[in-house]
Amino acid sequence: MGTSNEVKKQREYIEKVRKINEDRKCKYNILTMGCQLNENDSEKLSGMLEEMGYARTDNVKDADIALFNTCCVRENAEDKLFGKLGELKRLKEEKGLIIAIGGCMMQEKHITDKIKTSYPFVDILFGTHTLYKFPEDLYRAIEEKRKIEDVIDVEGKIYEGLPIKRDSKIKASVTIMNGCNNFCTYCIVPYVRGRERSRSPKDITDEVKSLAKEGYKEITLLGQNVNSYLRVEKEKNISFSEYEGINSFATLLRAINKIDGIERIRFVSPHPKDFTDDVIEAIADCDKVCKLIHLPLQSGNTKVLKEMNRKYTKEQYLELVDKMKKKIQNLTLSTDIIVGFPGETDEEFEDTLDVVRRVKFEQVYMFIYSRRVGTPGDRMPNQVTEEIKHKRFDRLKELVESGIEENNQKYVGTLQKVLVEGKSKNNPNMLTGRTDSNKVVIFEGDKNLIGKMVSLKIVSEHMWYLKGEING
Ligand code: SAH
Ligand code: SF4
Ligand code: F3S
Repeated sequence: MGTSNEVKKQREYIEKVRKINEDRKCKYNILTMGCQLNENDSEKLSGMLEEMGYARTDNVKDADIALFNTCCVRENAEDKLFGKLGELKRLKEEKGLIIAIGGCMMQEKHITDKIKTSYPFVDILFGTHTLYKFPEDLYRAIEEKRKIEDVIDVEGKIYEGLPIKRDSKIKASVTIMNGCNNFCTYCIVPYVRGRERSRSPKDITDEVKSLAKEGYKEITLLGQNVNSYLRVEKEKNISFSEYEGINSFATLLRAINKIDGIERIRFVSPHPKDFTDDVIEAIADCDKVCKLIHLPLQSGNTKVLKEMNRKYTKEQYLELVDKMKKKIQNLTLSTDIIVGFPGETDEEFEDTLDVVRRVKFEQVYMFIYSRRVGTPGDRMPNQVTEEIKHKRFDRLKELVESGIEENNQKYVGTLQKVLVEGKSKNNPNMLTGRTDSNKVVIFEGDKNLIGKMVSLKIVSEHMWYLKGEING
């Protein structure tokens, strides 16, 4: 899409704010809630802020701006935000801290209404479709000293060419598409992120190529439904320029696999219903694509899956797993599961446990169903009680943890390729890295190995990490 006039305009605002801050040592504090897409958005906000003359601080008391990038996929994030806002009121009064809130929760009217009435001291509210306009919003809040509300309902275009400040120098995320068209009945994401739109193949590959030049080794491709990349564009005859033969998710993987310097490619999240054979073949063929695939299950029961609008049955999910295991060597799987969806009976929940036992996931992200205003799930009459939800959650957790323990045993004695990420947080004499299957491995080694791929022999296993030794 290139640098549009809108991006030029925002760059002018960046310059204006930078001038205002010229002789001051300004700082920002950013709190990110939610998924990797939000983390990637926060890296973009950080990039803009740093170009505007702000340095990052982890202590909000030292900050001139406190920024919240919010998530609303489950209820607990709301309590967290309102708690933090209560704490910040004093800082606002004492030193005129600028408070800005963005992200998914700001697309919910009942939340922005509550902020305006109960926390009127908040300076800037912006949504998911206006993130690129943050420099302009901030400039107006500083210069015109007024409260800014910049939330729109219509999905914005994808803007290219704004700054980004990444958290890591080894691993980077690249958003390949925004929005979601699936409308799973429990989920708020399609309402707050809008409809699916894909970034152009050239913009994505250019970004990955420049990351490779900067020395990045691992790329994670992000989207709510990555394996439908460019599908909407094709279905609706929206023109896009094919580039290096990229016209689908499978061809995107193949093209990125060819980029020199990049050693690992991951992606989240694919949808089981869109896991076509060409995608499976691309994963099998591409040496850099990690063989850990995140395949969200949500429920193992066909009736619950239908109510969730997931568009696959228990059997179809298991058949897909079998097919993938046959075609992709060393495949490992991770998944997301929701317990206590409206109407879920004990018997239906047993199907979820059954699938977990059969598939032997490497990692399971477990969630208690949370009612989201505006979703069909919230309007269903047969909500499950909190007590039952928690009981089911505990049973699932027990099964998952015993599965992980069993699975960890298999690593002991094997050789694993590990991308070294840095010093271990708990033990600074050790280094830490991850296997292809995303397991944390700690080991003794020289710090110049950081950012490199090493071959380790696994010597012991612990619940959440493995211990390794440099091989040879
Ligand atoms: N598009 C991705 C991620 C969506 S959000 C996907 O389809 O996998 C991440 C996870 O949060 C979901 O996979 C789901 O397991 C969980 N989730 C979404 N809405 C939820 C809700 N209302 N209550 C509990 N968990 C939810
Ligand atoms: Fe939500 Fe379903 Fe879309 Fe994932 S695919 S974001 S769970 S609606
Ligand atoms: Fe949350 Fe928005 Fe991601 S609701 S899970 S931050 S897309």
